Amino acid sequence: MSGMRTEVAIVGAGPAGLLLSHLLAQDGVDSVVVERQSRQHVEARIRAGILEHSTVQLLDAAGLGERLHRDGFEHRGIYLQWPGERHHIDFLDRVGRSVWVYGQTQVTKDLGRAREADGQRILYEVSQTAVHDLESDTPSVTCVDRDGADVRIDAAVVVGCDGSFGPCRAAVPEAVRRTWERVYPYSWLGILADVAPSTDDLIYAWHPDGFALHSMRSAIVSRLYLQVPNGTDVETWPDDRIWAALATRLGHGQDGWQLTPGPITEKSVLPMRSYVQTPMRYGNLFLAGDAAHIVPPTGAKGLNLAVADVGLLAPALVALLRKKDTALAEAYSDTALRRVWRCTHFSWWMTTMLHTNGDPFDEQLQLSQLRWVAGSDAGAQGLAENYAGLPIGF
Ligand code: FAD
Ligand code: DHB
Repeated sequence: MSGMRTEVAIVGAGPAGLLLSHLLAQDGVDSVVVERQSRQHVEARIRAGILEHSTVQLLDAAGLGERLHRDGFEHRGIYLQWPGERHHIDFLDRVGRSVWVYGQTQVTKDLGRAREADGQRILYEVSQTAVHDLESDTPSVTCVDRDGADVRIDAAVVVGCDGSFGPCRAAVPEAVRRTWERVYPYSWLGILADVAPSTDDLIYAWHPDGFALHSMRSAIVSRLYLQVPNGTDVETWPDDRIWAALATRLGHGQDGWQLTPGPITEKSVLPMRSYVQTPMRYGNLFLAGDAAHIVPPTGAKGLNLAVADVGLLAPALVALLRKKDTALAEAYSDTALRRVWRCTHFSWWMTTMLHTNGDPFDEQLQLSQLRWVAGSDAGAQGLAENYAGLPIGF
């Protein structure tokens, strides 16, 4: 067994774990990160693409914004549409905040490089990760490293940034933890395509056949999604069928707008659920990001919530470990959960407003709500405020 000692042992090198180690290092707090996958795998995982205002501010303040501002794209709003109508909701005009299109793959690459330049200890490709003695002042993480050697990391604090399938959330005793879950009766079929986006801002489209979303990654790469039934086999969606469904649902031909198809380079089906586990702290274990909560992707909040958690947790741990000041650490769970539930509601609201479920009464309610959101200042303002993102400490 090889032993390591650090101040903060972090499980998971996704955006939450990498950003936490970065912010801690900036305040001189040492950490060790363990990760199940290879670095290459983590950096290639195609996931989120939208950074809200406070995420961009935090990355800038952490010295991670250079490539984001060079290669990312600032967007002032989104289009909301249903058959025959497309409406722009302008976030900058309404709430003075914009969002950025910059893939999670790029965020993790930027973080990976910064951590490497700093000499961060990250153990990739570990197995059998387990957390121990969380109620004590001497918690630890054990795992088996990529060469098959047993490793033990002793720390003052353990942080679970291990996503929705990691071991940390289950380490909170059942008697202490509470969970909330909503599983949705539909999934997304997501594609990446080597074609210039057919739109300037993202299009969120309600359609009787199901929801569709036109997003993008760059001037030459588009990212699009289709609502599909749960359990859909991606093999049943050849490229032609995908482009035909996207054209119908996104309104090809409506007011002369055209969807340009192109070669599809990635295709996958994503199930959707909402999940929250409380509290986000148990003894000397803290949870951040998907380890504590999952949202359906419609509001583009998953990555942003992970960043917001870490934005609260890093100063709390610095105060705890440097000044023995427990106030922020004690407040962490309640403070983070206020925003988590706001985003959980917003993501549920966007999801249920835009996805069809075969119920004709619900369809009429959805259309009425869409008309109100797009046509009323109060409705549009609410969407803009939530989508562009609330301040980190909201
Ligand atoms: P993760 O990115 O999941 O990172 C957790 C890390 O922990 C992983 O690297 C994992 O390998 C590691 N880990 C797990 N178990 C162990 C273990 N036992 N030992 C060591 N390490 C472990 N959000 C959006 O806003 N828009 C989207 O379009 C979108 N698409 C998504 C598509 C998919 C397929 C998924 C899964 C998520 C998507 N999300 C999306 C959500 C968003 O990507 C997440 O909210 C974000 O990645 C959360 O970051 P995280 O660091 O908390 O968790
Ligand atoms: C993307 C994903 C989302 O969930 C969303 O709401 C908007 C954009 C994307 O992957 O680009």
